[in-house]
Amino acid sequence: MEKIIAPSILAADFSNLQSVCQMLNRSRAEWVHIDVMDGVFVPNISFGFPVLEAIKRHCVKTLDVHLMIRNPEKYIQRFRDAGADIITFHLETVDNPQNTIDLIRKSGAKVGVTINPNVPVAALTPVVKQVDMALLMSVFAGFGGQKFIPETFERVKELQQIGSLQDAKFLIEIDGGICLDNAHALFDAGANILVAGNCIFHSSDPTKTIDQLLNCKE
Ligand code: DX5
Ligand code: ZN
Repeated sequence: MEKIIAPSILAADFSNLQSVCQMLNRSRAEWVHIDVMDGVFVPNISFGFPVLEAIKRHCVKTLDVHLMIRNPEKYIQRFRDAGADIITFHLETVDNPQNTIDLIRKSGAKVGVTINPNVPVAALTPVVKQVDMALLMSVFAGFGGQKFIPETFERVKELQQIGSLQDAKFLIEIDGGICLDNAHALFDAGANILVAGNCIFHSSDPTKTIDQLLNCKE
């Protein structure tokens, strides 16, 4: 089973993005998670295309773009052109998920879909067969540094059941409040990709923390 750590750049030092990218390039993180917030769907604004382009110039890892924006379909191609390898949209932000999925697919990016912790996992039933990844938020989207919601474990199980009923093949990503005290249990529970912001970037040795999240000794 795939086991991937996706450091969330939101918690990094933006005054020195180039060295952040160099550190990530040297690390065992395979993906880099990019949180885009619009101040409308979520009560916070992060960054957009120019920052993603800058990261793309320096980072060799898979860029995993998490859109926390209304009307995501308007911006899919621009995020793809700016360097997104995977584009994840919130189910809550669209009327016609299939349309957004088709637009992402057409752009050449991999397709991810996500829901906040208050949305029933069953809401993903109609789309799991069409996506490459389903992301379960383990905090409410909007801010880094929040506390992990433990009910996420049950939700992973539910998502796996929904997937296996349809014989759907998608990766499961978890995002929010992940650190050394819950990462291994989440991988054991069936998560494939874990996003971690504060845990990595506020540690004294980020590459070592990434290794520990992956359970590597060296
Ligand atoms: C929250 C974001 C997360 C966040 C994770 O809206 O989607 O990706 O950056 O940060 P930590 O790991 O600090 O909770
Ligand atoms: Zn995120």
